[in-house]
Amino acid sequence: MSETLPMDEKYNAHMSKYFREYEESLKDPEKFWNEKTKILDWFKPYEKVLDDSKKPFFRWFTNGKLNVSYNCLDRYINNEKRNKVAFIWVSEKGQEKIVTYYGLYKRVNAFAKALLNMGLKKGDKVTLYMPMILESPIAMLACARIGVVFTFVFSGFGAEALAQRINDSKSKIVITADGVYRKGNIVELKKIVDDAVDLSEGVDSIIVVKNAGNRINMEADRDYYYDDIIEDTYVKPEEMDSNDPLFILYTSGTTGKPKGIVHSSAGYSTWVSNTLKWAFNPQDSDRFWCAADIGWITGHSYIVFAPLMLGLTSIMYEGAIDYPKPDRMWQIIERYGVNILYTSPTAIRLLMKFGEKYPELHDLSSLKTLGTVGEPINPAAWQWFYHIIGKDRCPIIDTYWQTETGGFTISPSLDLGLPALKPGSATFPLPGIDPEILDDEGNEVKPGEKGYIVLKKPWPGLMLTVNNDDKRYVDVYFSKYKNKYLMGDYAIRDPEGYYWLLGRADEVLKIAGHRIGTIEIEDALVSMKEIAEAAVFGKPDTVKGDAIIAFVTLKHGFEKNAGLIDSLKHRMRDNLGPIMVPEEIHIVDSLPKTRSGKIMRRVIKAVYLDHLPGDISTLENEASVDEIKKAVEVIKRSGGD
Ligand code: WT7
Repeated sequence: MSETLPMDEKYNAHMSKYFREYEESLKDPEKFWNEKTKILDWFKPYEKVLDDSKKPFFRWFTNGKLNVSYNCLDRYINNEKRNKVAFIWVSEKGQEKIVTYYGLYKRVNAFAKALLNMGLKKGDKVTLYMPMILESPIAMLACARIGVVFTFVFSGFGAEALAQRINDSKSKIVITADGVYRKGNIVELKKIVDDAVDLSEGVDSIIVVKNAGNRINMEADRDYYYDDIIEDTYVKPEEMDSNDPLFILYTSGTTGKPKGIVHSSAGYSTWVSNTLKWAFNPQDSDRFWCAADIGWITGHSYIVFAPLMLGLTSIMYEGAIDYPKPDRMWQIIERYGVNILYTSPTAIRLLMKFGEKYPELHDLSSLKTLGTVGEPINPAAWQWFYHIIGKDRCPIIDTYWQTETGGFTISPSLDLGLPALKPGSATFPLPGIDPEILDDEGNEVKPGEKGYIVLKKPWPGLMLTVNNDDKRYVDVYFSKYKNKYLMGDYAIRDPEGYYWLLGRADEVLKIAGHRIGTIEIEDALVSMKEIAEAAVFGKPDTVKGDAIIAFVTLKHGFEKNAGLIDSLKHRMRDNLGPIMVPEEIHIVDSLPKTRSGKIMRRVIKAVYLDHLPGDISTLENEASVDEIKKAVEVIKRSGGD
């Protein structure tokens, strides 16, 4: 464990507030959340803070009525926030757009009206497949305004991955853009949507924002330009029940298709706005930059909903953080006077690779607070971020959470009292979060020992369920330990009570800080005409987290040849999108399997990484291990595939 880093006295003085609030949140949750949910404006008060009569389906703030878009916009348009900047948007080419709270309110209303005109009504589903443009939060808020449940699909996914999510969510409309600039090249989003709609069912219309200006195909009576359908008028915000779903967001698991995580209206909003305040304590005059993509939970919670509910000014950047030059992030901080920068260890490692000379080109003195999310931050990246970017002045708020938790769970808190930081530890649980670290039998492990981290009590940000699959919700999260929420990560609690998160306990890969299921990649591989079986695992990569490695066998009649691997990779890119393309695909004659026929990824991975394969007594075909070994030797000799 690394040494405790003494922080400035002024940060440590208020830890007592943390202990007081934390204790109260667990001892008297009713009183605590009654107080904390006042951060929202309600149309009709709720009856009960927490209904746990159907656990683990916990329901918060039952029978209350509110609207999330009202809480982000309407309540600000008649006071001093009316003309405050809500978003500063910067394109990859450096063009900038600024929208105030009133401006955003007008634009959300205009688009909500367009959605109503298209026949959408409360409870309908739409898919957003959009880049980092202002129309993305506008679309999210317009849906929330009229009670339409949106599901955002990250624009790095390909047509097949998109089609699957459209189908599972039963979306009637897809909202997209013509294209987006990514490192100077146009990604043709509309074309990918066309392909996805061909592969899916039930989509009546596609709405297209003109953004990159690339030529696209527009089908009559199906495709509409955003600019042609918006109508500048007021739309009354729908009165939503506290537990009406706000959005669905897909995340990967080890088995089956991606899980559609369903978040509530009131519990989620209460959670994200309070957690942002606790962790970062943003001030009214601050400029806050959450440098995540809006298509992931980080973007939903901390680019859109929490900052707007707190009335903050957020930065939104369209492009790649190292384009056109590796100083892009630092340039944006200087240019816009960013005070709080929230990013990921992957991004830090990427920018660190280019050296100190890039941050040195810019004045970063506006920064007060730094934050990270997505994976454990390695000490080298932490030190670089702290010294080179934060100039030893800015605490690093390492926030541990996941799509299902809605917002931060374990994180240092600037508002409640910042603990002395230890690089690589997310420190202490936020109020309402009651963690425990357990062994396989459900016994609590000793301090310093590794186990599964669970949360013993519900908190308002917990998802409602898995879309169309209540059983999966219970099986995945609440069955290993009854009624305790299984986060799926290994963790250690050190003797001083600090939490250290150690990564996934299952076979889910971390690609650029996000969970990608091996199964989804394997499914895409075996759906190709040449491939019989596939095994996918992650190779630790110093920058990316995990690099995707695939071992496959071919169907009868197909032969390994030079062009095949390239062609497979090419088609994977088209189907799943760039983030899910394996770095290496290896063709072998057989894969190691258990006697019951399960492919043993663990064995392949161990051999590949030059580790001992462990127990292989259950293997049906030991010879296949030798084949993998030989294949790996060939790869090593040739220095690649
Ligand atoms: C998983 C959730 C939460 C938004 C980004 C990823 C890992 C996340 C940390 C952290 C150690 C972390 C966990 C978690 N993780 N933040 N600060 N320290 N690990 O969202 O795709 O839902 O992934 O990310 O493994 O379970 P996600």
